[in-house]
Amino acid sequence: MTDQTILKGQVLSFTNSPFDGDPAAAVRLDEAVVIQDGKIIDVGAFAVLQTRHKDAKLVDHSDRIITAGFVDAHVHFPQTAMIASWGKRLIDWLNSYTFPEEMLFGDAAYATEIATRYLDITAASGTTTMCSFCTIHPESVDAFFTAAKARGQRVVAGKTCMDRNAPEGLRDTAQTGYDESRALLNRWHGVDRISYAITPRFSPTSTPEQLEALGALWAEHPDCLMQTHLSEQLDEIEWVKTLYPSARDYLDTYEQHGLLGGRGLYGHAIHLEPRERDRLREVGAALVHCPTSNTFIGSGLFDMAGLMAEGQRIGLATDTGGGSSFSMLRTMAAAYEIGQLRGTPLHPAQLLWLATVGSATTLHMNDKIGNIAVGMEADLVVLDLGSTPAIAQRTARANDIWEAVFPTIMMGDDRAVTEVWINGKRR
Ligand code: GUN
Ligand code: ZN
Repeated sequence: MTDQTILKGQVLSFTNSPFDGDPAAAVRLDEAVVIQDGKIIDVGAFAVLQTRHKDAKLVDHSDRIITAGFVDAHVHFPQTAMIASWGKRLIDWLNSYTFPEEMLFGDAAYATEIATRYLDITAASGTTTMCSFCTIHPESVDAFFTAAKARGQRVVAGKTCMDRNAPEGLRDTAQTGYDESRALLNRWHGVDRISYAITPRFSPTSTPEQLEALGALWAEHPDCLMQTHLSEQLDEIEWVKTLYPSARDYLDTYEQHGLLGGRGLYGHAIHLEPRERDRLREVGAALVHCPTSNTFIGSGLFDMAGLMAEGQRIGLATDTGGGSSFSMLRTMAAAYEIGQLRGTPLHPAQLLWLATVGSATTLHMNDKIGNIAVGMEADLVVLDLGSTPAIAQRTARANDIWEAVFPTIMMGDDRAVTEVWINGKRR
């Protein structure tokens, strides 16, 4: 038997979705969690767990919150170094800032440097799993998975395929996009905690032939996830109409080519037509809300309340570096603000659920990560609810757990993250 560790604190887990009924009633609070060999083996009252696990090493976090590690359901790790680039909307932003940076990832050493930097920054922010776009270069995928494997991290990523409307040097073809994706999938999918996602960037940068080839690859590997972008900005949607004149709508450009399914992740999904909403729900596809990106690039206000009410599967994400933060705390704050702008404020339990269980569910990994329960993987984050004087003085006034947690959601950042445990190991 290997070592057991008992973490003491306010252990916050979900027994239900806080979008079904009273949000607070979906939450369970325990006093301690016991981990061993990368798994959660016990949760409950501290005195009981101490008696049951006499030899466990104690890590006492007093009244800090212990939750599942954050799950970021849509990021671009190659955009780490160009985050917070000024003044452009989506298409100009891609051409001015993103594509020139992504060109650099054919250099394996640079790809490794940024992958390492990205995983360091996000671990410090409490993110333990992410689903990332890479670049068209297989080197970028190898660099990301190699760095994640060394940390024992559960990650999802894929080679971003583009065969048009991107600069020379940043385009593959329908055939090489398929071949390179397939080779990477065969090399990495299912290795340790790594999963491959088939990754057409979005319809404007793929020909119908490329979408068709990637749809065929997905049909050959239906256990893989597929990630892309959908209906982020109005100009983009108009452009898609001219590029795919026979498509009924933006989603149809994917649907026609075998790229709509229950294991599909559609980033942004802001300006959806009724038919698109119906089809996404019918197939059980996942919508990924990227609120800091949506305000930063000026995209629009995601309809969280309406989409949840109609039963969509929804996760939360930074969309680094279109998003303006690596932190899921900052991302929850932005989701709250977008909810307010739509007249539907989100409860702190709903925000925390989106950043953990919700995102894990979009990745079809909610049986492994995103919550604290016996048998789940030991990816944990410990939050200090008084990490700055401004937050501490507000928390001191709190009358209940939600008033205590909300200032950290709204004003917290990596300073609130006291500790991160990945695969049962403290980072
Ligand atoms: N649409 C296509 N590519 C991207 C990207 O890199 N970031 C964002 N925010 N939207 C996109
Ligand atoms: Zn994106």
